[in-house]
Amino acid sequence: MEIVILPTAADVARTAADAIEQQVRSGPSVLGLATGSTPLGTYQELIERHRSGGLSFATSQAFLLDEYLGLASTHPQSYHSVIRGEFTDSVDFGADAVHGLDGTAKDPASEALRYEASIEAAGGVDVQILGIGTDGHIGFNEPMSSLASRTRIKTLTRQTRQDNARFFENPADVPDHVLTQGLGTIGEARHILLLAMGESKAEAIAAAVEGPVAAMCPASALQLHPHVTVLVDEAAASKLA
Ligand code: F6R
Repeated sequence: MEIVILPTAADVARTAADAIEQQVRSGPSVLGLATGSTPLGTYQELIERHRSGGLSFATSQAFLLDEYLGLASTHPQSYHSVIRGEFTDSVDFGADAVHGLDGTAKDPASEALRYEASIEAAGGVDVQILGIGTDGHIGFNEPMSSLASRTRIKTLTRQTRQDNARFFENPADVPDHVLTQGLGTIGEARHILLLAMGESKAEAIAAAVEGPVAAMCPASALQLHPHVTVLVDEAAASKLA
């Protein structure tokens, strides 16, 4: 694991964008995209580089990490809609190049298998962007998730529902269940960028990076991966030894 402590959140965004730009300029690429607030600066930076620097995503594909169960892809808070609004509609991905899980699938277990197969058919993920939950989750692999887990349904913890209530008009509207890539699935990405900013993430980052590899902190599974870059601002790094 390479830990890079940067002065500000803007530096984290620029450094993450540099890694993605390098990948995308190297040839057709498969990107793993997270939603939530953490990667927004990175997406803004990439949009800027697309507009002013000719960075093209036309030959790349993208796979989302997770989706709320019960929300149609057209729901404004579905991760399909969010990623389109925040990033992919503002650059030049091809029409069918941005893949997500179907939160309204009648058979979520089959949907999970279909998604795993489509990642594999694309050749696997070259660079995966991750945020981290205050409880150490990555994707929506909440504490006690199996370190070898594959894409499946998970129940959100009360903490995560509270953390995500800010995106919904009514906190009770935050779905209880999600479909998420598993820790084993995420771990197959060839390069993982774990981003965190702000003091609220400091404990989770310390546990992920310096704690034991344990299901209580799902992000600690990344310690076993051969190519992880952790990009944090000073505040998120404040509880590192
Ligand atoms: C989102 C995701 C989550 C978030 C995490 C942090 O697709 O998989 O793991 O990365 O909940 O969320 P923010 O960035 O909003 O603090």
